[in-house]
Amino acid sequence: MNSGHPPPHIPVMEQEVLTNLLPEPGNIYVDGTLGLGGHSSSILQACGPDGQVIGFEWDENAIAFASQRLEKFGQRFITAKASYATLLSTLETMGIQKIDGLLLDLGVSSLQLDTGERGFSFRFDAPLDMRMGSGLQTTAADIINTASEEDLADIFFNYGEERQARRIASKVTAFRKNEAINTTKQLATVVALAIPKRYHPKKIHVATKVFQALRIAVNKEFDNLVTILKDAPQVLNPGARVCVITFHSIEDRITKQAFTKDPNYQLLDSKPIIPSQMEIANNPRSRSAKLRVAVRI
Ligand SMILES: C[S@@+](CC[C@H](N)C(=O)[O-])C[C@H]1O[C@@H](n2cnc3c(N)ncnc32)[C@H](O)[C@@H]1O
Repeated sequence: MNSGHPPPHIPVMEQEVLTNLLPEPGNIYVDGTLGLGGHSSSILQACGPDGQVIGFEWDENAIAFASQRLEKFGQRFITAKASYATLLSTLETMGIQKIDGLLLDLGVSSLQLDTGERGFSFRFDAPLDMRMGSGLQTTAADIINTASEEDLADIFFNYGEERQARRIASKVTAFRKNEAINTTKQLATVVALAIPKRYHPKKIHVATKVFQALRIAVNKEFDNLVTILKDAPQVLNPGARVCVITFHSIEDRITKQAFTKDPNYQLLDSKPIIPSQMEIANNPRSRSAKLRVAVRI
């Protein structure tokens, strides 16, 4: 896969992560969202010569890419093919009792978005899949074709902040009575038909929020975040930093609440760190990113 081209995913706020995670030699860090290994690579460089990174990732394609990229770090880099929500049990299986820092860079990677057949994007006509993790069972098509109208509206509204959620849910359930919605293009068309033209957004595709909402539902993204933030203090050494990069207001709220309400954490700054204008210009995907940092007390 790595043919000498630069990796197709630019790590967001790479420098800000390093200055907040504070990697040091001899320590063990968990990258809960390894992806293509961009952040892991910079953490491994910063905690050399003997610090270690354990990279959690549930997407086999990403693991293959990152493993090749990080091969040069030898035994200092270890992959865990598992959801980061299984942090405690996976570390226990690996015989690791304590860690010195945790990074989460949430959401999908550019590689996942740009691989048409994974079904994350309406830019490609493909089966409506959207599973990030290889072990997940339920696809986006399963949800679209079987959830009740009310549940669909809740998913679109709560996870996608889609104001036309009820209209779209109603159109989907009417459409699927005649024909199952199995492809990205079919869903994008149904969403476009559901929303009166005057309400079509100008800056984003009319189906953007519905696709985001379904991806979050398929991958149980909010539940996984709640679980790891609740469990992590059990394995974090005192003084260890937790850095969370979010791209969604609800993820940011979940993170801020955990860092302020759980007495095991101290939130470093009530304002999140955001990318510089220069970073946003170089990598537009970073524009909605927020980095929150807490210390394990
Ligand atoms: C935004 S990308 C991370 C990019 C990475 N920081 C880099 O620099 O290449 C997010 C990655 O996290 C993975 N991911 C998301 N949720 C996960 C979970 N619950 N467990 C394991 N991996 C997860 C996705 O499959 C995706 O590859």
